[in-house]
Amino acid sequence: MRIDIITVLPELLKSPFDHSIIKRAQQKGHVEIHIHNLRDFATNKHKNVDDYSFGGDAGMVMTIEPIDNAISHLKSEREYDEIIYTSPDGVKYNQKEANKLATYKNIIILCGHYKGIDQRIRDHIITREISIGDYVLTGGELAAAIITDSIVRLVPGVISDETSALTDSFQDNLLAPPVYTRPADYKGWKVPDVLLSGNFKEIDKWKEEQSIERTKQLRPGLFEDEN
Ligand code: ADE
Repeated sequence: MRIDIITVLPELLKSPFDHSIIKRAQQKGHVEIHIHNLRDFATNKHKNVDDYSFGGDAGMVMTIEPIDNAISHLKSEREYDEIIYTSPDGVKYNQKEANKLATYKNIIILCGHYKGIDQRIRDHIITREISIGDYVLTGGELAAAIITDSIVRLVPGVISDETSALTDSFQDNLLAPPVYTRPADYKGWKVPDVLLSGNFKEIDKWKEEQSIERTKQLRPGLFEDEN
């Protein structure tokens, strides 16, 4: 899978993909992550990528041309399944959405900034708008990093234990059960007996019950497929 991210702050996106599982996924060739500086696609003398808003609203708006140039350039080299724009007014992101994006071959993520992008880009170029939650960030870069991280770990081969991504919280609209490791008794805080029993049928049953119980208590809306 290939993910192209277009941003005015490429430096901000270096570190999130340069560690641990996401780094290894790239080294092993499971995914390619390419960061593009939007300013490289600006044709004006000062490499400006924003301008005043028509209608007199406060705040700058990202202009069409550099974004169109960047996306057209990428599209001339390969086909893209989705061109995503990160914005607080997009559709709220969840695991189901991550699962779907992880099946794609090539996606572009455009990071929003300032007061947003010229609406015509949204109308004519963007195919999907994603918000990572009902709060406003200073830019879309952290949202793009979160979306990318959540997708990459689902790409086959990225997580060595094949089943582990499938047992994450949310995969069945349920929270994951609690997990424990050694020691079995720490200052009298004990690991549930069933986990030490070696009876895998009972252990699976216990995990399922715990998942349901946790979901009921902490996120009851998940039973109704809430967003
Ligand atoms: N840009 C600013 N806030 C955002 C959010 N909540 N989700 C996605 N992109 C954003």
